[in-house]
Amino acid sequence: MAETRDSLHIVMLPWLAFGHMMPYLELAKLMAGKGHRISFLSAPRNIDRIPKPPSDLASLISFVKLPLPAVEHLPEGAEATSDLPYNKIQYLKKSYDMLQEPVAQFLESSDPDWIMYDFAPYWAGSIASRLGIRSVFFSIMTGACLGFLGPVWALKGGDYRKTPEDFTKRPNWVPFPTRVAFRHFEIKKIFDAVIGNASGVTDLYRFGAGQESCDIIALRSSYEVEPEWLSLLRDIHTKPIFPVGLLPPRDPETRGEMDSWRSIKEWLDSQKKGTVVYVAFGSEAKPSQIELTEIALGLELSGLPFFWVLKTRLGSSDTESVVLPNGFEERVKGHGVVWDSWVPQLNILAHDSVGGFLTHAGWSSVVEALSFERALILFTFLADQGLNARFLEERQIGYPIPRNESDGSVTRQSVAESLRLVMVEEKGRVYREKAKEMRPIFGDKEIQERYVNNLLNYLKEHRPVKHLKSKGITI
Ligand SMILES: *[C@@H]1O[C@H](CO)[C@@H](O)[C@H](O)[C@H]1NC(C)=O
Ligand SMILES: *[C@@H]1O[C@H](CO)[C@@H](O)[C@H](O)[C@H]1NC(C)=O
Repeated sequence: MAETRDSLHIVMLPWLAFGHMMPYLELAKLMAGKGHRISFLSAPRNIDRIPKPPSDLASLISFVKLPLPAVEHLPEGAEATSDLPYNKIQYLKKSYDMLQEPVAQFLESSDPDWIMYDFAPYWAGSIASRLGIRSVFFSIMTGACLGFLGPVWALKGGDYRKTPEDFTKRPNWVPFPTRVAFRHFEIKKIFDAVIGNASGVTDLYRFGAGQESCDIIALRSSYEVEPEWLSLLRDIHTKPIFPVGLLPPRDPETRGEMDSWRSIKEWLDSQKKGTVVYVAFGSEAKPSQIELTEIALGLELSGLPFFWVLKTRLGSSDTESVVLPNGFEERVKGHGVVWDSWVPQLNILAHDSVGGFLTHAGWSSVVEALSFERALILFTFLADQGLNARFLEERQIGYPIPRNESDGSVTRQSVAESLRLVMVEEKGRVYREKAKEMRPIFGDKEIQERYVNNLLNYLKEHRPVKHLKSKGITI
């Protein structure tokens, strides 16, 4: 792909979580596919771990390794949230904030047209504007999440919301009825995002400052899915809002990691069409021991075939690994599989035998599942997952396993009943049908193409003036 006078150089700075780096990389590939140059910044071991782009794009995407400064309590070698238990992620943010100087140096020496940055590097927008580089706050979250989080004043320390209770209600800047809000047990678990932690800056502040100092806001969303939330964002931020599309998965990989896929496929091939529940909670979540036991016994009680990808430990510094109930794997042998290492999730979701997905409601997993018409059963853990779940629940696109409002606990009976409802019972037909209806919205490549073109047109028209002149473009 040749670079032309028209082509841009765009720097990408995603947060150190695979759920953030992967959608950034997906968008990078779509933009490189149109001849633009991308510099993708992350910590060295993350870059070694993300899948390499196809060879026709390789020359346009450069990966830039920024070593993370050592920080007390941050285990050595931990560079992504999936390397760490939840209570250590605060130290990863602290170390990440120490990259301000190296990022500024890189921007200064490479002089890109634009930088696209995530919520964590809330400082990137002001560095960029100091250097005459334009900036996009690019959120991998939905408009519903950003809309619930709200305007800059509410994020940067306004006292509109102070207690966990305050986050369980629709905020007053949302003018339409919606159930999008946290549940008690969800916000309590992540309340350090509101009150702050070792990095000295709250996550809410990061969202506020990041959105305040950018030129435009982009997000992984589309008008087909949430027009009302996108229009709300336009009102509360008074700057251009660009949905970049949902970034649906490409065709599943058939190369690489073939050995694990071959044996998984063999098992899936032996199951009946649409009967298997795929169970996976993303790279960052680990059920508590009590949750794990109830989910396991619930799966067993449901009698449904299942394939479960289970993380029992979060990185080598995690001292609290969890275990399956005694004799569980023996008892479910033949109709249930528990897998404890990396899987090609896309291949599994694309397989005909899979009918439903018991998921943490991470947005990437939701997009992948709905691109393949898989019905959703929801069990949230962290971050924006609760807000995604409410968004899906109110449209009957996903069914939440009933939980205790105060501590989030579940029973094996409610796990089994929820799974049977969504997978087989007549009463749950709506969930299976909704998943089918969503495919043209979540999986459409042409819609995706339109959103990327639209963003790129804006980025081209509004590139820094100094670059327009040096490229001989008159304005
Ligand atoms: C940060 O938050 C975590 C999780 O809420 C908590 O366990 C930890 O004690 C907090 N640390 C500090 C230094 O506030
Ligand atoms: C929900 O959890 C709380 C706190 O653990 C407990 O006191 C309460 O009895 C539970 N409620 C139900 C209905 O089980």
